[in-house]
Amino acid sequence: MTVTNHLNQPMLRGLFSPVADELDIANLDVTGTIPPGIDGAFIRNGPNPRFEPIGGYHMFDGDGMLHSVTLRNGSAAYRNRWIRTEALAAEERAGRALYGGLGGMHTPTRAERGDAGPTKNPANTNIIRHAGRYLALFEGGPPTEVTGGLDTIGVRDYNGQIPVSFTAHPRIDPRTGEMIAFAYSPLPPYLQVFHFDANGELTRIVNVDTPACSVMHDFAITESSVIFVDSPLLFDLAGAMAGGPPFRWDPQHGTRIGVMPRGGDTMRWFDIEDGYVNHFWNAWDDGDTIEFSGSRSPGTGYVESGSSGEAGGADAAPGLPTRFIVDLAKGSAKTEQIDDLGGDFPHINDEYMGIRSRFHAMSAFHGTPDVIGHFDTVVVYDDIAGTRSLWHAGNGTVVGDVVFAAATDATAENDGWLLCTVHDRGTGATDLAIIDATEVSKGPVARVHMPQRLPFGFHAQWFDNSN
Ligand SMILES: [Fe+2]
Repeated sequence: MTVTNHLNQPMLRGLFSPVADELDIANLDVTGTIPPGIDGAFIRNGPNPRFEPIGGYHMFDGDGMLHSVTLRNGSAAYRNRWIRTEALAAEERAGRALYGGLGGMHTPTRAERGDAGPTKNPANTNIIRHAGRYLALFEGGPPTEVTGGLDTIGVRDYNGQIPVSFTAHPRIDPRTGEMIAFAYSPLPPYLQVFHFDANGELTRIVNVDTPACSVMHDFAITESSVIFVDSPLLFDLAGAMAGGPPFRWDPQHGTRIGVMPRGGDTMRWFDIEDGYVNHFWNAWDDGDTIEFSGSRSPGTGYVESGSSGEAGGADAAPGLPTRFIVDLAKGSAKTEQIDDLGGDFPHINDEYMGIRSRFHAMSAFHGTPDVIGHFDTVVVYDDIAGTRSLWHAGNGTVVGDVVFAAATDATAENDGWLLCTVHDRGTGATDLAIIDATEVSKGPVARVHMPQRLPFGFHAQWFDNSN
């Protein structure tokens, strides 16, 4: 049984509706020319429920499905696979959904789930590659290892040291090969920071003393420090267990930036005005200051979207690009709004992770958003020139996560292409757009036509073939 377009489930309607087929298609149709200097795979993760949900459905609950588009020698190939977690395997044995989620709590019996856990970790949010391993990530559980060919290997919990939660957004320092990650948890310690060496071994865990479980979806690193924003968006375990919203906005909590030396274990906090940052672009050290940027919102929309399950209206309003500057000498911090264009899913050239980056891309709204996350525009900020370049994909389109793919012979930060899915809500077709990162406003140099609709998804990454 597959899942159909539900009128009574907002997060299963339209582009949220899942696909049922796993395909392998070579030599995809292309309009334009795939540049010969692009060599690697674009892989996107996202929720794609395998079975009819038991009750209410939230998009955070859907089984992870990976879609890959391999680009090599000017041609493109497509593959998609569910991430076969233990929970999904139990459901496939049963032939029906066994688990609930944020959309409606439901726990299967031990007999129903077998060796699978009492809750589902759908591994549906992001995919990264570190030390040669591909990890599919969901912040409510440990990483799930997959192959570059999208086969599932299994949970990677580092000998039980990461049993409960793990961010979907680890940061990899390209100069040292280290990976830094974190987890926020509903029970103390509310925040943990994990350090991995260049071989992918977990070398250090730091427990951070915070007063409550603040929702932290992302963070940032510099060469010296790790950076968090602790906001009033709190995870409400008791409320969720009682059938209420899983999040609440508590102004009493306040908002502060946390800065901790990468080799240290003490966080220094800097108060700022209230706001929630869903994703960060980058951060870097500049003498006695640290600068970082991200998509900042008032935050309360996340509470409402988490509680009502509605996928439109005011909840659809995204954050605004914002710069944060922390003065370590003065002990102060400030924010500066960069633009009034709403958007999210920020990306940089990952070779600049942790050091000053000039070009910052994101998915944005050209018009007024009508559905959460349904962006229609690609924008790139040039922080030195103080300019922006944007390409509007058209009315009725949905632009996915915009990733940067460096040219194989790249000599400059923006020497490469921006890749993103573009869905046409009128025709139902999805393309992978390939945009010259130095000429964004000209639009795609090539559009790779997907052999099936790609449902609404979360994060994509580019994996080049050089390592
Ligand atoms: Fe994310």
